[in-house]
Amino acid sequence: MAEREIVIMGPPGAGKGTQSGRIAETFDVDHVTTGGALRENKDMETEYGTPREYMDAGELVPDSVVNEIVSVALADVDGDDGLRGYVLDGYPRTISQAEYLDTIADIDVVLYLSVSHETLVDRLTGRRVCEDCGENYHVDFDPPATEGVCDDCGGTLIQREDDREDVVTTRVEEYREKTAPVVEHYEEEGLLVEVDGEGTPDEVWAEIEDIVAAHT
Ligand code: AP5
Repeated sequence: MAEREIVIMGPPGAGKGTQSGRIAETFDVDHVTTGGALRENKDMETEYGTPREYMDAGELVPDSVVNEIVSVALADVDGDDGLRGYVLDGYPRTISQAEYLDTIADIDVVLYLSVSHETLVDRLTGRRVCEDCGENYHVDFDPPATEGVCDDCGGTLIQREDDREDVVTTRVEEYREKTAPVVEHYEEEGLLVEVDGEGTPDEVWAEIEDIVAAHT
């Protein structure tokens, strides 16, 4: 098992991707994101159809497809490249995924970002993503220097298909129905640490950095 095995959970737009990037950089761990992996393979044919059919509607991709992605990603984190573990962002999202993860990992800590519904909707509908390098921005909270242009690579900033307001509603409902029970599961196992996700990225990070340092 890897030295640091961290899970970050929270509803869509809670800031999982933003904070996972900082965890990866500070604690020398791989950022394993199922959402990112699925976006790179949106048109991959599976026995259930393509990931795109689920993602653009705001629904969860079937467990077996996502479990396979995670299994391959975690097997690759073997320390050869100097990394000391991983932070899992966006997985597990169902009880069945959590049970599968239990068979291939020994999780140190599960961070749970708690954010109000109004904040989630503001963050998601205002998010813009670089179509070339994937860097995230927000039209109000984290704007690029030049509107519509990525600061890092000069690429064009676009809105994710699933950040439209109607799809955001479905994503939040999917989260409540299927992922909230996973939060309870980790609470019962004594692994869950709740973090107030309402502050600025730096405020949230200050809390997370201390928790990860204490638990890994
Ligand atoms: P995924 O990409 O994982 O989406 P998500 O969980 O809905 O999370 P987001 O990426 O939208 O938000 P985030 O919490 O990472 O927030 P972020 O840091 O970007 O999954 C997409 C889809 O893939 C799913 O709907 C599903 O179809 C499928 N999928 C993925 N994993 C799956 C699984 N395990 N099983 C089945 N299906 C799966 O921040 C959001 C915005 O807010 C940004 O603009 C950011 O700049 C801003 N922001 C962040 N933090 C702050 C802050 N503190 N203050 C102000 N603004 C902030």
